[in-house]
Formats: sequence, C-alpha cells, structure tokens
Amino acid sequence: QPPNFQEGSDVLLKSAECRAKGGAPGFKVAILGAAGGIGQPLSLLMKMNPLVSVLHLYDVVNTPGVTADVSHMDTGAVVRGFLGQQQLESALTGMDLVIIPAGVPRKPGMTRDDLFKINAGIVRTLCEGIAKSCPNAIVNLISNPVNSTVAIAAEVFKKAGTYDPKRLLGVTTLDVVRANTFVAEVLGVDPREVDVPVVGGHAGVTILPLLSQVKPRSSFTAEETEYLTNRIQNGGTEVVEAKAGTGSATLSMAYAAAKFAGACLRGLKGEAGVVECAFVDSQVRLGRAGAEEVYQLGPLNEYERIGLEKAKRELAGSIQKGVEFIRK
Ligand code: NAD
Ligand code: LMR
Repeated sequence: QPPNFQEGSDVLLKSAECRAKGGAPGFKVAILGAAGGIGQPLSLLMKMNPLVSVLHLYDVVNTPGVTADVSHMDTGAVVRGFLGQQQLESALTGMDLVIIPAGVPRKPGMTRDDLFKINAGIVRTLCEGIAKSCPNAIVNLISNPVNSTVAIAAEVFKKAGTYDPKRLLGVTTLDVVRANTFVAEVLGVDPREVDVPVVGGHAGVTILPLLSQVKPRSSFTAEETEYLTNRIQNGGTEVVEAKAGTGSATLSMAYAAAKFAGACLRGLKGEAGVVECAFVDSQVRLGRAGAEEVYQLGPLNEYERIGLEKAKRELAGSIQKGVEFIRK
C-alpha cells in the first residue's frame, strides 16, 4: 500500500496540524465517493484549496491509487485514503466538512429519480457514518436525486438525534455555474461578471433560475427567458446525452462542488457575506455554523411565480419519497 494510505502519514499529518496551528486555519475535509468521475477531479481541486489541511479520500474501490496520485501534489493538505465500509469511521472521525459524490450516475433516457433505488441506500449508510463519527460536520450532498437524498440524510440525522438543518446542504451549484455560462453567452459578456440566482431543487422544473435578478441588471425577451430557463433546467441531460452512456457531468460538477465547498470553508473560517444557492430552503449565507441565514427569494416576475409553484409541487413529492424511505 502507498505510504500515506490509512494510518501511515502521521509525520505529514503532524506537519499539517502545525501549519494549521501556526495561524492559517486548516480544515479537515472528507470526500465520500472519491474514486469516481466527480470524486477524482474534486479530490484534486480540494487538495489545491489552501483552507484544507487534511483531506480524507473514501470509496469502496480504487482509493489507494487516487490517494497516491493526489498526495504527490505539492500543496499544503495532507491526503489519506480509506477503502471500504470497515474504514468509513476512520475516514470520517474529526472531519469539519464531508462532501458526498458517491452513487451511480444517469444514462440517456433516465431521470435522476431513476437513481433513487441504488443511491438512497448508499446515502443512508454514509450519513449513518457521519452521525456516528462527525455529527458536527457540514455535509455537502451531491448524490442524485438530490431532491430526495437531502431528505434521506435529514431523516437519518433526525433518527440519530444529530440533525441541524444549518449543516446539511444539497449541492445545486452546478445549476448556478451553468446559468452564469448560458446567460453570459446570451449577453455576450464574460461569465465571471455574471451572477444568476437559481433556487428550488436539482431536477427539471424544480431548478428555477431567477433571470429577473441577474447581476449585472439585465433584461431578456420572452424567447430568451424561455430558451435560458429550458437550457439551465436541462443542462444535466445535455451532458448525459453527449456522454452517450458513459456517465453524467463530472468535470463541471467537480468545479462546482469545489466552488461550493470552498464557500463553506470560508464561512467556517468566519469570513463575512458568503452567499450561495443550495438545496436548503433558499439562498443561504454561510458562516461558522454552516447555512446561518436563509435568504428570501426577492421579487419574482409572473414567469418565475408560475415556475415556483411547479417546482414546489414536484419538490414536495421528491422530499416525501426520501422521508418515507427512512421512516418505513
Ligand atoms: P461515478 O460512478 O463515476 O462515481 C461514483 C463513485 O461512488 C464510484 O467511485 C463508486 O465506487 C462510489 N461509491 C458507490 N457506492 C459507494 C459507497 N457505498 N460508499 C462510497 N462510495 C461509493 O459517478 P459520478 O459521475 O461521480 O456521479 C456520482 C453521483 O453524483 C451520481 O449520483 C450523479 O447523479 C451525481 N451528480 C450530481 C450532480 C449535482 O449537481 N448534484 C451533478 C453531477 C452528478
Ligand atoms: C447534472 O445536473 O449534471 C447532474 O445532476 C447529473 C445528471 O444526472 O444530470
């Protein structure tokens, strides 16, 4: 096994902890599903985050290789790998932030809800581990269907008596990232200058871009609004079809997950005014406690009000499905 696999990296770990004590805050982050299509590039990106002092990579396959590979990067975080459920507890103990991209992805013709059968059980097992080993960690849940897996996680944590809605965040950043890109294309500007709030959940009509609140202030024709809303809501399917049976978005998702996890760490560090969209209730302000403040949706136009009603109807069903999976 590579030297920094499992328990073998105490010397390096000590040096990272010393660095953390020396002033720069260092957080301990675990990625569950780290050997997957999202997990691997996400591991690379989190290894590059200067706020991370310790990075735990957990999967049921292939973590030794991914761990050896990522650990050679000359950045500050110490990397340790964990393989299989018997090492889940060690992977999670002491973590400040746990990111979960574990689970199967879609193939063309499938909905995200078709993944429920397999991914619901995976998310339940991992969240039981979190409740036991790091009940105070912030959880970033990526596994689909997010609209139900977040409810599953919430029910597991409630059962264990550890639930804090501030610390459970369904990751919808990819919808924001896509919205920024597609809106920038229409406006003919750099996507880095654009900020599109996207609220609701993470599937079809539950993804609700608020184009009336785009920054910088912009107006869109009815055709542009229809085109942009459809493209943002179907961005995942666009990638699934282009990948033609080999998976769904992994690289843009890893980028989005790293962006969101980075915002969570900045909040944990105490940075002021860190605002992101997530599947909690609405836009949230991230702080030392996680999602410290849920933002109001702001003024909606008629198109968005109708979209919101559709989103709420579908979300209620998906949430209930997750709740029943644990309660029954
Ligand atoms: P993948 O198949 O490439 O990787 C999944 C990884 O999870 C694999 O390495 C697998 O071994 C691991 N895994 C399976 N069971 C596990 C368990 N019990 N514990 C730990 N790890 C386990 O899939 P991917 O492309 O990385 O996608 C992962 C998930 O993310 C899918 O459910 C996909 O739909 C979802 N996703 C969500 C978003 C989003 O915006 N929230 C975006 C893209 C993909
Ligand atoms: C996405 O939006 O890309 C992900 O949810 C993956 C998918 O199945 O579309």
